[in-house]
Amino acid sequence: MPLLNWKGKTLSPPAPAALVQDAFLYPGGLGYPDAPSQGRLILGDNLAVMSALLPEYEGRIELIYADPPFFTNRKFSARIGRGEDSRKPEEWQLAEGYGDSWQDLDSYLQFLYERLALMVRLLAPNGTLYLHLDWHADAYARLILDELFGSGGVFINEIIWTYHGPSPIKTAFNRKHDTILVYAKGRDYTFNTDAVREPYNPNTIATFKSSRKAGFGKIPNLARGKVPEDWWYFPVVARLHGERTGYPTQKPEALLKRIILASSNEGDTVADFFCGSGTTARVAACHGRKFITSDISVRAVHTARSRLAETERVFSLEHDSVLTPVMAESKKIRVHVSADSVRLETPLKVDFWEVDPDWDGHVFKSAVQAQRHTRSGELPLELKIKIGRKASVRLVTIQGKEYQLNIQAVANTANGL
Ligand SMILES: C[S@@+](CC[C@H](N)C(=O)[O-])C[C@H]1O[C@@H](n2cnc3c(N)ncnc32)[C@H](O)[C@@H]1O
Repeated sequence: MPLLNWKGKTLSPPAPAALVQDAFLYPGGLGYPDAPSQGRLILGDNLAVMSALLPEYEGRIELIYADPPFFTNRKFSARIGRGEDSRKPEEWQLAEGYGDSWQDLDSYLQFLYERLALMVRLLAPNGTLYLHLDWHADAYARLILDELFGSGGVFINEIIWTYHGPSPIKTAFNRKHDTILVYAKGRDYTFNTDAVREPYNPNTIATFKSSRKAGFGKIPNLARGKVPEDWWYFPVVARLHGERTGYPTQKPEALLKRIILASSNEGDTVADFFCGSGTTARVAACHGRKFITSDISVRAVHTARSRLAETERVFSLEHDSVLTPVMAESKKIRVHVSADSVRLETPLKVDFWEVDPDWDGHVFKSAVQAQRHTRSGELPLELKIKIGRKASVRLVTIQGKEYQLNIQAVANTANGL
């Protein structure tokens, strides 16, 4: 088998992260406070995170989707604030999203190689790995995956995801597709054909209806639909305002839905260690799968948490101890407590807030949550919840700063400490 080489190619065992359990989130109070967690959202470098997961998950994850930086040598910024007028880009508020800048191709390939090696170790014997890239590096990745999966591995598909969009290119055809490489460890991988069938093109149906000889006499089951081709058209998220978070390079839920339905079953574990805005975890949660997802960026984890809070799956928030999020305190935050609700008063531009009505001083158990509405930009400032003797409120501003306010005793008003 031909092997790809680069300067500094090596595969040394990475040091595992020390994962700290920070919070459990019960969407809308569902199952609070005892329901078991169905998902894990982890802040940390995925190399250390995956390494820490090996003892529990080696060979046990049924589906891994990976959407790493593509080697574009660009910086992607996030759009924040929500509710902004999409016709007036000069008024959009921007913040740091994530970087995709590399010293050279060697360092990028090494980055990919050591992470893909861990994904292959975590993958179940009947599991599937989807690696999403584009023309910048997909050819190199194909050789790396051939090497990591070895002679027993199966290269299932090269999926082409096509889309439209503006482009400044004048010297080549517009580059409007990504490549998703799909691999398994053996022939026994999950593939749910019927879960992803789609209707035949009306022209195909008309052809078969008009002539018994069409298709060389073999008439497909037109009502059942067909297995999609390996080229997929889904519009990019910029055009689907409903699901847009403002996080850069967010992938469409429809794309992940097809992948998850085809390559996992209910109750399976789906992982995405480059989670970004949390698309994979959200779609997995909405379809009865467990999830593990991680990102090195605090903004990505905030975005994913807000999206996951809209699902019906209880999940935990963890972080690598070297990346402990800073929980600020502020005199600008006041909460008013009544018999059955908590009301927030602050000049800060809050994006998301939540309440633990029974704060134990260690792990935050989020029983109610509110978030700024994507289109209207409005944020509910009152949450229905009965609080105990000690409670805690956490909030995240649109700039991504996180605050915590502990309410020490039953009182009508609690100020920032
Ligand atoms: C292309 S984006 C993923 C977008 C995502 N699929 C979505 O739908 O929003 C790549 C993500 O990888 C994250 N990332 C880059 N290096 C990482 C690392 N070493 N560990 C964890 N996450 C990393 C970035 O912060 C970024 O959010």
